Amino acid sequence: MKILVTGCEGMLGSAVMCRLASTHELTGVDLAGADLTQSQSVHDLFERTNPQWVIHCAAWTDVDGAESQPEVAMAVNGLATELVAQECDNIGAGLTYISTDYVFNGRGGALGYSENETRDPINYYGLTKARGEEAVEKMNGPWQIVRTSWLFGDGKVNFPKTIRRLLSLQPQLKVVADQRGCPTHADDLADVLGFLVSSDSRGIFHATNSGQCTWFDLAREVAALMKIDASHIQACGGNEYPTAALRPACSVLESHRLEEAACPERPMWQEAVARYIRLLESGQARHI
Ligand SMILES: NC(=O)c1ccc[n+]([C@@H]2O[C@H](COP(=O)([O-])OP(=O)(O)OC[C@H]3O[C@@H](n4cnc5c(N)ncnc54)[C@H](OP(=O)(O)O)[C@@H]3O)[C@@H](O)[C@H]2O)c1
Repeated sequence: MKILVTGCEGMLGSAVMCRLASTHELTGVDLAGADLTQSQSVHDLFERTNPQWVIHCAAWTDVDGAESQPEVAMAVNGLATELVAQECDNIGAGLTYISTDYVFNGRGGALGYSENETRDPINYYGLTKARGEEAVEKMNGPWQIVRTSWLFGDGKVNFPKTIRRLLSLQPQLKVVADQRGCPTHADDLADVLGFLVSSDSRGIFHATNSGQCTWFDLAREVAALMKIDASHIQACGGNEYPTAALRPACSVLESHRLEEAACPERPMWQEAVARYIRLLESGQARHI
């Protein structure tokens, strides 16, 4: 299929460009190629590339920055998604929109959220992504909303990479132990996106690595992989690490619809983190 991948230089977009290259005809675009908040740029992009399907990875992903720059964040996550959805409808293309666990309030208990639960974001980033979801749901043509969480992979910034760097600089770290979610390797998510597009599935999906943990558990896993004694990492509460944007306490994404669609099981998060740390240590990562 002829697929347009937006945000192709980002962490997920670049993984999609690699993982789907052998099965689809891909065109990647990033901010330098088209600013998706401008309707004329989006229109020209669709005329130029004429895709059958769009995997929309471009986004404003600075969660704390969205609190101080709400208009820009809303333009990228809300308006740009609406423009992309409208152009898809105009030319009869399908759309896959990547969304987030942050559309939920995090007060749902340890089991987490299934696909049909009500959106109720507690920070501005979550609100902008929820607006994007609403725009996609209004489409006449085929659409997929794929929510993911705690994404890491060969990108500029991510949590395992930050912990690895900090552990090499300082002997002791305090990490938040009262927030729970599902770490997700961008490569494994890209494989799920490939499956969903090829199987022409429709609707809302939750795609993460298998299992769940706290940020503290994830940091200790990184330490163990670096052969650093886990006692170097101490647990703390989110209240000891204040951030501009509130974080949901439990944003575990439960998946039912991927199983119904017969999507292969996702690897456990520990295996996915080990694979990423090995990539960093091999010196082969695009972003060290
Ligand atoms: N990262 C996470 O932990 C996480 C968790 C859950 C869900 N998600 C979702 O997963 C998706 C991919 O995230 P990611 O971490 O791969 O994002 P990322 O690395 O920040 O990449 C986003 C890309 O979008 C581009 N972009 C920004 N504004 C644009 C605009 N106006 N027009 C065109 N392109 C623009 C960025 O370009 P520049 O770099 O030049 O600005 C960047 O290349 C997003 O939808 C995000 O909301 C992420």
